[in-house]
Amino acid sequence: MTNGSPPVLPAESGIAEAAAVLRAGGLVAFPTETVYGLGANALDAEAAARIFEAKARPTFDPLITHLADAADLTELVGPVPPAVAALAERFWPGPLTLIVDRPAAIPPIVTSGLDTMAVRVPDEPSARALIAAAGVPVAAPSANRFGQLSPTRAEHVVAGLGYAVDVVLDGGPTRCGIESTIVDARGDRPVVLRLGALPVEALVEAVGPVIVRPGSSGQPVAPGTLAAHYAPRTPLRVAADVESAPGDGVRRGRLAFRERPTAGEWAAVEVLSPEGDLTVAAARLFDALHRLDAAGVTEIVAEPVPDVGVGRAINDRLRRAAATWH
Ligand code: TXA
Ligand code: MG
Repeated sequence: MTNGSPPVLPAESGIAEAAAVLRAGGLVAFPTETVYGLGANALDAEAAARIFEAKARPTFDPLITHLADAADLTELVGPVPPAVAALAERFWPGPLTLIVDRPAAIPPIVTSGLDTMAVRVPDEPSARALIAAAGVPVAAPSANRFGQLSPTRAEHVVAGLGYAVDVVLDGGPTRCGIESTIVDARGDRPVVLRLGALPVEALVEAVGPVIVRPGSSGQPVAPGTLAAHYAPRTPLRVAADVESAPGDGVRRGRLAFRERPTAGEWAAVEVLSPEGDLTVAAARLFDALHRLDAAGVTEIVAEPVPDVGVGRAINDRLRRAAATWH
């Protein structure tokens, strides 16, 4: 563990140094197309244990293993069910995490003792270069403390987790801004365990009907789906009707989809996408919440977005953030 601020290296030029840290059992925060990950050598149980410690993450919440290339999947886990192979072929590299059998090479701590493993190939050149240079699969959850806002910039990582990371690769703001979609395609019909950056509509187009079951029951099937998660420090609620904002002098922050509120008193306002583009809104979501969190407001009132495409994942994150503050 490092004290204070870790070295922050440009993603392009820092790869060799960061790969050496991974091989030595250290922790590297790195950009993916979704959010920043906190990576460790997935073959090294001690290194993986450091991730749980750094994040204060319960050990029942399994990690995602990241590969440099789709071809590495069968090398690591052997043959996979046809639907899993089809989804990997269609969407990797990309924001889709697939469930496979845990191979013997991956220590059980990575999967929290499950006999299944979550795996993906990120669509971010520096991430793939890092994993390839390390020469090992990389276990990486989002690089935030457990339950808190996900990091979409290197600055978020340094502010939230800097004390525990050996090196941070800075690749600028992440493109998608919201975590990968998690799918279990081992059975008759693919099951979406976590809504994410890859829209359900794209999955359906590729493989036909899917079951959407982002378990809100609190059963840790995919604990990114725990009811309370992704939360700012400031209490948050979801409300469409901005007219209801009372002028009572309380400092409220508004997270709006496309328009600044015309009524009510707001101490801070973040507009996700004036063009009404859900992809842009997803990319800005966590950054906007980080800023509202820093704005010294006593409450954040978030406007739901249209419940289509990646908008479903945005609404999912807002609901879970709000669930923390019941
Ligand atoms: O976009 C992403 O997926 C980012 C980047 C860094 O790749 N990672 C990420 O990791 O969001 P994390 O740890 O914040 O979320 C991983 C989710 C958790 O909800 C975990 O429970 C679920 O994946 N998961 C991991 N292994 C699983 C398994 N075997 N079965 C079901 N869910 C699993
Ligand atoms: Mg996370």
